[in-house]
Amino acid sequence: MNYSTEDIILLDRGADTSVTVHLHGATIISWRCAGEEMLFLSKNAIFDNLKAIRGGIPLVFPKFGPWKYGPQHGFARVLRWKVEMQPKKDKNGNVFAALSLEDNDLSRAMWNIMFKLVYTIRLEESALHIDFTVHNTDKITFGFNCLLHTYLATPDITKSGIIGLQNLNYQDKVNNCEDVEEKEELIVREHIDRIYMDAPNEIVVGNMAGNRSLMLKTFNFPDIVIWNPWREKAKAMLDLCDSDYMKFVCVEAGRVNKDIVLKPGQSYECSQILAAITALL
Ligand code: BG6
Repeated sequence: MNYSTEDIILLDRGADTSVTVHLHGATIISWRCAGEEMLFLSKNAIFDNLKAIRGGIPLVFPKFGPWKYGPQHGFARVLRWKVEMQPKKDKNGNVFAALSLEDNDLSRAMWNIMFKLVYTIRLEESALHIDFTVHNTDKITFGFNCLLHTYLATPDITKSGIIGLQNLNYQDKVNNCEDVEEKEELIVREHIDRIYMDAPNEIVVGNMAGNRSLMLKTFNFPDIVIWNPWREKAKAMLDLCDSDYMKFVCVEAGRVNKDIVLKPGQSYECSQILAAITALL
């Protein structure tokens, strides 16, 4: 991959279990679990420290989707983050690290708000924990969205079922309507772009990399976005190879349907845990 070692931090747990974080956007670009890559990263991903990185876990803040003040999905994924805490191992062998982003000239030119974001990563033997905290360091109240745009790697998207969304209301951005999910197991077979609202805090995605299933547990992330561009849309994306759409499904935990509102001095903390489980569905 075409990035400099100065641009990344590595959380290495040993036994080919590691997390690589790019400081551009605090984007997790790799999670290896016992030798298996669990996240999809496009071979055509652009590492110019300007564009959002295609794959891994880009972070969406302060706005999900198109935004009149700045780039789509906000600026957190396209600004350079600071290392708040270098990777450290605890006595159980788990590895921690933290990054932060405070408002600066670039962010204030788009959104004239003072804030501090802290992104904490903990790597366990077969789980990746992410905590995201937004602090209002301003004298005014503000509203925002946030979301972890996780690209989960799959050997074949048509065999990977998402369980946990049945009976949820969703906004369908492809067909421009609202609907209720009927399926117990959702299998993506076409362009999909949906916001599932009031989702449970446990979702399972079956038949993923390394014959594992992935359990996604969330806290304070009530919405789940499911996205895959499918063949035609993928072709139009310069940073995706043509057949890549078969190799990932985005399962994105967030708070996007309604703004989170923070008064001066208040904080909002949200988190997700991805756990690789061996049972096949
Ligand atoms: C998803 C959105 O979260 O991200 C889609 O729901 C969007 O509408 C997709 O197309 C990819 O966005 P981007 O900006 O990374 O190309």
